[in-house]
Amino acid sequence: MATIFRDLSYRYQWLYDGISRLAALSVGGEGRFRQLALQGLTLHSDTHILDLCCGSGQATEFLVKLSQNVTGLDASPLSLRRARNNVPNATYVEAFAENMPFADNLFDIVHTSAALHEMQPEQLRNIIQEVYRVLKPGGVFTLVDFHPPTNPIFWPGLSVFFWLFETETAWELLKTDLPGLLRENGFEVDTPSLYAGGSLQVIQGRKKR
Ligand SMILES: C[S@@+](CC[C@H](N)C(=O)[O-])C[C@H]1O[C@@H](n2cnc3c(N)ncnc32)[C@H](O)[C@@H]1O
Repeated sequence: MATIFRDLSYRYQWLYDGISRLAALSVGGEGRFRQLALQGLTLHSDTHILDLCCGSGQATEFLVKLSQNVTGLDASPLSLRRARNNVPNATYVEAFAENMPFADNLFDIVHTSAALHEMQPEQLRNIIQEVYRVLKPGGVFTLVDFHPPTNPIFWPGLSVFFWLFETETAWELLKTDLPGLLRENGFEVDTPSLYAGGSLQVIQGRKKR
């Protein structure tokens, strides 16, 4: 069942965007949701930003307002076609996040939103290693994704969402110590910030200088 609804939401962008906007109400709307992972970062027009697993450009749209140097990467040709159409002023690359066609030490910021919960555990490790490789020393990996709610009121809503749209990897992510995983792979990580009753986490990890 989850697979059918996920496939449908990827096939029809209006459905994906509608669900995202509805879910983002839990943090005050999509505009606020898209700012969460950017808080505390110093971004300039020439900051080299990678929007990892950019989908149809939902976060890329916000990133290009902050920098002229934004690259979106995704494995889905359909999503990338839409991203090129929706947000033409970014550069796009079709590739897997666990094997990126970029040189070492290239980006100031790697941003990823609502994507790591789709990865198998081994894949997640490989992606974190790849992000570390492509970041410049002192560069920041900033991500927003699911977290086990700290407020029990949020469990039923999150569970229904997972049953309808996600697979076992999303449940797996709830059990994963993401900050610990980032630290194991060399990042300096602060305490995650939690939102929406704890059901969303924002983590920022810095590559050592
Ligand atoms: C839920 S969407 C998130 C899209 C967007 N970042 C957002 O915030 O709405 C997850 C995206 O990750 C992409 N994806 C999944 N596995 C991937 C992988 N291994 N490498 C690159 N992209 C991947 C999918 O194609 C999809 O576009």
